Amino acid sequence: MKIEEVLQEAYRLTTPDREEEKELRETAHLAKKLIREIIENNNIEADVDVYGSAARSTWLPGQRDIDVFVVIHNRDVKLEDVLKILVKNLREVGVPISLRYAQHPYLTARIGRYEVDVVPCYKIAMGERPLTAADRTPLHHQFLIERLNEEMKRDVRVLKLFLRGVGVYGAEIKIEGFSGYLTELLVAYYGSFLNVLRAAANWRPFKTYITFGDGAKFRAPLVFIDPVDPSRNAAAAVSLTSMSTFILASRRFLKRPSISYFTPSTKSALMLNTVEVVFTYPQEPPEVVWGRFKKRGRSLYKWLRDCGFKVYRWGVESDDETYVALVYVVESVELPPYILHRGPPVYDEAVDVFVEKYLGEDVVGPFVQGSRVYIIKRRKYTHISECIEKHLGRGDYRIELNKYRGPLVQKNSWIT
Ligand code: UTP
Ligand code: MN
Repeated sequence: MKIEEVLQEAYRLTTPDREEEKELRETAHLAKKLIREIIENNNIEADVDVYGSAARSTWLPGQRDIDVFVVIHNRDVKLEDVLKILVKNLREVGVPISLRYAQHPYLTARIGRYEVDVVPCYKIAMGERPLTAADRTPLHHQFLIERLNEEMKRDVRVLKLFLRGVGVYGAEIKIEGFSGYLTELLVAYYGSFLNVLRAAANWRPFKTYITFGDGAKFRAPLVFIDPVDPSRNAAAAVSLTSMSTFILASRRFLKRPSISYFTPSTKSALMLNTVEVVFTYPQEPPEVVWGRFKKRGRSLYKWLRDCGFKVYRWGVESDDETYVALVYVVESVELPPYILHRGPPVYDEAVDVFVEKYLGEDVVGPFVQGSRVYIIKRRKYTHISECIEKHLGRGDYRIELNKYRGPLVQKNSWIT
């Protein structure tokens, strides 16, 4: 397919129809009015406005969330107190809400078919130090709205869908990828979707440093200095793997353009050996759960490797509701009962320690082969289940062998 044809199709996929646009605009208007009234009736000095992708027409069709910010003038007013007032008043008028505490306290209200995030923050001027992570948002909006024309907004949507298609859209721990804001900055900086890809095809992890002006130094795979705060890396969430995935995707897309980058499909799985450790989903927010299970997954990966299991790749999977699973693709779930263990050369000081260590043990050797000593000993864990149970102890999980058919054992769905 020609690149122009692919782009035409991508434009079609990322342009919301009139109906959806109208619904979003009306819901945003309604949400803003509702929140504004509550703020005014309670004599809180604050601006209520819609920010994020809904305010800039950079949202993707089908995405049903709107970000409303309550920008408080007075720093002595507590975010939690404003939230409490909002909760009470929204409940009174029958709006379903839930309180969210990521790093920043906010609430989510259900209005029509939309999830409206209501985020309290403090008003700051350009160059002023923010008190909370959300305080920069009005400045982000100001910066982007002055630079993005209609074509660039369209290209932001196209880039978002591309990033989503290759699995790196979102700054949350699950993805460790590109935030909406970073996506918009990239288009603002490079000028178009294709220009972003052309640049990204030549990026180098830990060497790429992008800035509109001055900026601090950072040790991170990708650095994009936040134009509204030179002490912040707007790409801090992007992991080495996510950045590299985007580099590869950009390079391949430019060589062989295809719509596959925008419309992920599932491929059939190969029958590799796998082990899944499946836990019931804990009663905690997704950010916390993903963070903890990615850590746990890495630690179990290291343990399996140290026990002699060859792990080809691993990952965490979850429906964010009922289960979270650590998945390992392995060469084999069972290992032979004996292992050859190589010791030091006979002329090395360390040989005495080695020999003495195994004198009293039930091993073959120590024997000499060439210039080194060796022993053959019994393996501690021959089956991967034993090995996992040893590491995790008793707990609320089950182990599944050779059942997994997910993305970790499939052909890459977008690569061309
Ligand atoms: P969103 O995460 O909703 O991003 O944050 P978005 O730009 O609307 O993108 P999509 O389309 O929903 O995926 C909304 C705004 O909040 C600010 C950013 O300015 C962003 O544009 N924000 C968000 C922060 O300042 N810090 C954060 O940690 C998150
Ligand atoms: Mn948003």
